[in-house]
Amino acid sequence: MNILGIESSCDETGVALVSTESGLLAHALHSQIAMHQAYGGVVPELASRDHIRRVLPLTREVLRHANLTLKDIDAVAYTAGPGLAGALLVGASVARSLAWSLNVPTIPVHHLEGHLLSPMLADAVPAFPYVALLVSGGHTQLMNVKSIGEYELLGETLDDAAGEAFDKSAKLMGLPYPGGPALAALAEKGDPNAFDLPRPMMHSGDLDFSFSGLKTAVLTTLRKLEQQGPLTEKQRQDLAASVQNAIVEVLGRKAIKAVTASGSNRLVVAGGVGANRQLRAYLTQQMQRRGGEVFFPPLALCTDNGAMIAHAAAERIKAGLLDKIRRPNEAAVHPRWDLADISL
Ligand code: KG4
Ligand code: ZN
Repeated sequence: MNILGIESSCDETGVALVSTESGLLAHALHSQIAMHQAYGGVVPELASRDHIRRVLPLTREVLRHANLTLKDIDAVAYTAGPGLAGALLVGASVARSLAWSLNVPTIPVHHLEGHLLSPMLADAVPAFPYVALLVSGGHTQLMNVKSIGEYELLGETLDDAAGEAFDKSAKLMGLPYPGGPALAALAEKGDPNAFDLPRPMMHSGDLDFSFSGLKTAVLTTLRKLEQQGPLTEKQRQDLAASVQNAIVEVLGRKAIKAVTASGSNRLVVAGGVGANRQLRAYLTQQMQRRGGEVFFPPLALCTDNGAMIAHAAAERIKAGLLDKIRRPNEAAVHPRWDLADISL
């Protein structure tokens, strides 16, 4: 079966073709980063309008790459939520119209289920059960993934997401949106121990996170430094490295703690912040030390993309679960949608 997947929940239009037999056939992406950069963040209305412009050309592109035509599509999967309502509606409308015209089913997919299962698109595929650290611009969660459709929440952020902590700290430092990659690049040459920043909830005894205090600490540090004059490049590098270190240490330690509690010794890292090199290095080293395994999605599929949406739909079909997964109702999109709601 060939599944067309459409992702349009935020600021990336992603389209992909996945075969239930042979995996990923083609994927194409358009990032709106350059368009939103002038505003320092995502402008929802602009995002929706741009998805409209991009989704059909991207669909043609993946069909061409896969050497297929519209008639070869057996189902159309789309991100039904969570995300920006208008942006989600673009993908949902296109998916439903296309499926209707081709007389094939539509498969609404939970965006986070897409991220959770995306490491399966790499060559080394994790066995169930595994612990997943889901770290994106909107979410920070530790999940116990028992099988397709069986997701147990172990812990989550009580305020800002890890990606938000990167983005907001970067914004305070005058770095361009999205701040995560920019801050990580600046941190490369910095001293990660130069500034003593808080590690919120590191010793809270549970698997929850809190990142909102970190941006306040960054602001206070910046104000103190600025009193002595404009920041030097070295100070900026050191501050970036210290911010990254604080975020990575909290995420890393809690993820390892979750692995210990789960007893599975397998960890999967998904979502945009999973592209962070320091986080990857830390978790690889820690999991090696405990004789466990760590899996990351291919770097290009860490951030939002259509492949993870088509793939999640393919996995549900293969597991015979399409009708068994609970959905809040039959509306086309669910801007707020808890992952626990789709668990069996
Ligand atoms: O999963 P994603 O593409 O979109 C959401 O569903 O939110 O994640 C985007 C987030 C942004 O906050 C971005 O700054 C962050 O992932 N990010 C990074 C890196 N690459 C992307 N954060 C830290 N280091 C990176 N290399
Ligand atoms: Zn995402």
